[in-house]
Amino acid sequence: MQHRAERIRKSGQTIAFVPTMGYLHKGHLSLMVHASNLADHLVASIFVNPTQFGPNEDLSKYPRDPERDAALAAEAGVDILFTPHEKDLYPAGFETFVTQEALPDHLCGLSRPGHFRGVLTIVTKLFHIVKPHFAVFGEKDFQQLAVIRKMTADLNFDTEIIGAPTIRESDGLAMSSRNKFLSESHRKSALVLYRCLTEARRMVAEGETDPQKIIKMSEAEINAEADTAIDYIAICHPDTLDDVRVIGQPAVMALAVKVGSTRLIDNRMLFPPGSEPG
Ligand code: PAF
Repeated sequence: MQHRAERIRKSGQTIAFVPTMGYLHKGHLSLMVHASNLADHLVASIFVNPTQFGPNEDLSKYPRDPERDAALAAEAGVDILFTPHEKDLYPAGFETFVTQEALPDHLCGLSRPGHFRGVLTIVTKLFHIVKPHFAVFGEKDFQQLAVIRKMTADLNFDTEIIGAPTIRESDGLAMSSRNKFLSESHRKSALVLYRCLTEARRMVAEGETDPQKIIKMSEAEINAEADTAIDYIAICHPDTLDDVRVIGQPAVMALAVKVGSTRLIDNRMLFPPGSEPG
């Protein structure tokens, strides 16, 4: 992969990159289509990264379907599919990790200690191997996108990070490889995430500025659904991820909820009147 990337760069052509953990769905495919318009070559990777899973998170249960993934990636315009083995990326004796000071201490980072250390480490390794000019990540993983943007700026990576919008099912459920674990009734309960985000957006557009009112409304909605457990509901600054006290500027509402045993995340921007993007 490094040699191919080197040859592409030397020939003056550009590389766009979509890293994934596989089990591709329409969300990934939209990232790939987006990326294919940015550069001469589109590289995607499939690697279920062990270092971003905590000790209580079941890495072995992460869904996998490499043959279907390869066919879907080719259809989406991927011309190089990079599928490294664990022993190549983490050989015996591996001991160097990338960490970040502040952004991981919010949202998912609080309930998944070490998760972003694993993400930043693998993204760094993949960037060194694929040498992309552009890398596209989904806005659904809002904190991941923020943490990666910060790392590439802080460490002068020669890669432009691009966020692409969340792709939803027709009823609003954000696409995720984890949705496969939802039973029919859990799938219905899971719609509460989008409902809360949509209601929050409406409240803010109509002048609500108190994040606590929106969080309380969301807690009540989520707790009314069977088999749900709230991990967090936060309304925060989109760059620093610090909680906002008053919603006077565009803010992001992010939530993580366990539905049955499946942990789901979602987010949406909230725009106070007059601050909507043009
Ligand atoms: O978003 C993902 O699928 C993963 O966190 C990533 C960025 C591919 C790193 O393993």
